[in-house]
Amino acid sequence: MSDQTGHDSPVAPAAPAMPAAPAVPAVPAQPAERQGLGALTQELGLLYGGDYNPEQWPRQTWVEDMALMQAAGVNLVTVGVFSWAQLEPSPGERCFDWLDEVLDLAHAHGIAVDLATPTASPPPWMGHRFPETLPVDADGVRLAYGSRNQFSPSSQVYRTFARQITADLVARYASHPAVRMWHVGNEYGQVCHSEESAAAFRDWLRERYTSLDGLNAAWGTTFWSQRYDAWEEIIPPRRAPYLINPTQLLDFARFTSDALRSLFREQRDIIRAVDPVRPVTTNFMGFFPLVDYWSWAGDLDVIADDAYPDPQDHAAAPTAALTQDLMRSLGGGAPWMLMEQAVSAVNWRSHNVPKAPARMRLESLQAVAHGADAICFFQWRASRAGAERFHSAMLPHAGADTAVHRGVVRLGTDLRALADVVGQRSSAQVALLFDWSSWWAAEAQARPTDRLSVLAQLRAWHRPLWDRGVAVDLARPGDDLSGYDLVLAPNLYLLDDDDAGNLREYVRSGGALALGPFSAVVTPDGHLRPGRFPVQLADVLGTSGEEWIPLADGAPLARGRDGTWLAEDSQVRDFAERLRLEGGYALATFAAGAPHDLAGAPAVVGHGYGSGQTWYVGALLPDAATDALLTQVLRERGVRTALGTPVPATPLGVEMVRRGAVTFLLNHSDSPVTVALGDATSTDLLTQRDHSGTVVVPALDALALTERSP
Ligand code: GAL
Repeated sequence: MSDQTGHDSPVAPAAPAMPAAPAVPAVPAQPAERQGLGALTQELGLLYGGDYNPEQWPRQTWVEDMALMQAAGVNLVTVGVFSWAQLEPSPGERCFDWLDEVLDLAHAHGIAVDLATPTASPPPWMGHRFPETLPVDADGVRLAYGSRNQFSPSSQVYRTFARQITADLVARYASHPAVRMWHVGNEYGQVCHSEESAAAFRDWLRERYTSLDGLNAAWGTTFWSQRYDAWEEIIPPRRAPYLINPTQLLDFARFTSDALRSLFREQRDIIRAVDPVRPVTTNFMGFFPLVDYWSWAGDLDVIADDAYPDPQDHAAAPTAALTQDLMRSLGGGAPWMLMEQAVSAVNWRSHNVPKAPARMRLESLQAVAHGADAICFFQWRASRAGAERFHSAMLPHAGADTAVHRGVVRLGTDLRALADVVGQRSSAQVALLFDWSSWWAAEAQARPTDRLSVLAQLRAWHRPLWDRGVAVDLARPGDDLSGYDLVLAPNLYLLDDDDAGNLREYVRSGGALALGPFSAVVTPDGHLRPGRFPVQLADVLGTSGEEWIPLADGAPLARGRDGTWLAEDSQVRDFAERLRLEGGYALATFAAGAPHDLAGAPAVVGHGYGSGQTWYVGALLPDAATDALLTQVLRERGVRTALGTPVPATPLGVEMVRRGAVTFLLNHSDSPVTVALGDATSTDLLTQRDHSGTVVVPALDALALTERSP
């Protein structure tokens, strides 16, 4: 062991060929509601810190780190994410002394620890001695160690070692006063096509379909002679000569998400069995394609997210807001954690433009505005060796006397000034629907066009709200939507009958639904629904369609009834549908000159159903038309901005978000923006200055306004 770890007295290794499998313990009776972040934030205020990897440094550096953390206002560090090889240098050996010291030191400095199970990166001995723990890709290539994430979610050997180190870690530290929360693994997203994974996939399929006949029917295996005669024949979607069965792909996506989830739960339950109180989490990755976070959300005590927007991306701010709205919604509105972000540059893009300290501060305040009670980074001290040497950190290679670190210290001060928002929630009149299964199904191979991207549509429909200071929750089509004045569903390609029934009932009883193109196309098995689309909802929407039409050169639009929102020369881009009215009215039609005989056919249809209202958009509208249509819809539904004012016709120029009693004004642009506030006097918590009438938000700056009591 290197003395950099501080390890000096290894326990004699038992070095078993394979450890005895500790069972996953029964979790003791749960408290009625498990602690979220509340206990910690009530004591410490907004949490501030990052990943701390002391095993990369000698002891004297730890002492310096603690002092600098205190000076920067850091009150939480995540320790141990990648320390498996230091904790278990050889199979069964345990080296906890160095971690004892780190935790004692953190506690002595008043810094809380989010202690990680180190299971994201198994030591080389595991891959070397147990190659079956390594993941296999779709080409049948077994991936090597020497990196991280080198495990198969279905490997029983990996799982056994992971349970053992978790159990020992928890037994040793559950009562350590520094440990205030638990962090399981890191960024779950591994996929494996090995034989062991194939067996696990088959078990999952048996559970889902019970019989081989059921599977053959669901997968539509009469097509291309794909009928399975025995369970053993079924394999993950490995590299094949041509297109792969779409239901096999969809089920493998579901299986992978479930396999990773069971991995998380296994370690979580070991923790909860010993420590039933402190929160357990793991870090999500926004709209990550490999894991259905809706299905996981209830398994975590606190939702946590890692976010690495590209400083070069001009749409980074609205995209971040959308992701943050998802994180808040996954936790049912409870405060969540921004677990990782970069202080400045990352090192894994091809060209890593640094993030200015002002932008880093603004992005952090944006997360707080959207419900985060913890602002954390990867990582505290920049690594000198290893693959992330050029990744920024809270404490750069050049030390504390740097612009980057001064930005870190300043943010610590800002977060302390925002004590009023701790634990506060927000409310939204609008829900935006998003469903992972539908996303997976929609983006399968061999579809009419790959220019219809689910996430791009989601962003395009979210943007008009973001531009106008309108709060939005993310939801699933089967959720209780009755509290919302408006539900936006940019794309629901896969829509099951229960969810369609839920939407119908929501509209019938007075709700308002806007649905985007290429929706209600397939069943949960990915089979096309026969009939005119959107099959289960055509009568609700007052229109039905018969053909999806990818366009070569676009198609002109014309205004229909109440169609003044549409600019005269609007053109549909890549995708149109051939619709006809079924009781609805056309807000927009295809104009003369539209290809495929579309001229005169409806493109956007409005309808009343029950006591509710609907809009169906049967085309991929240009962004300006989406903006204008949704703005009209928001206004019709009486939706209000964060200031309680009617939705303005044009964008505000700043992001406006209300959380509890605090209204955040966030200016992501490079020029100052003036905002009208109304007559009441508000105090900016960040500067303690009072404002009324109008306020100027400087470029790349933010205000956190709270109304002054008279
Ligand atoms: C995250 C990861 C961190 C670090 C970071 C670099 O994906 O969780 O450990 O690698 O990326 O940006």
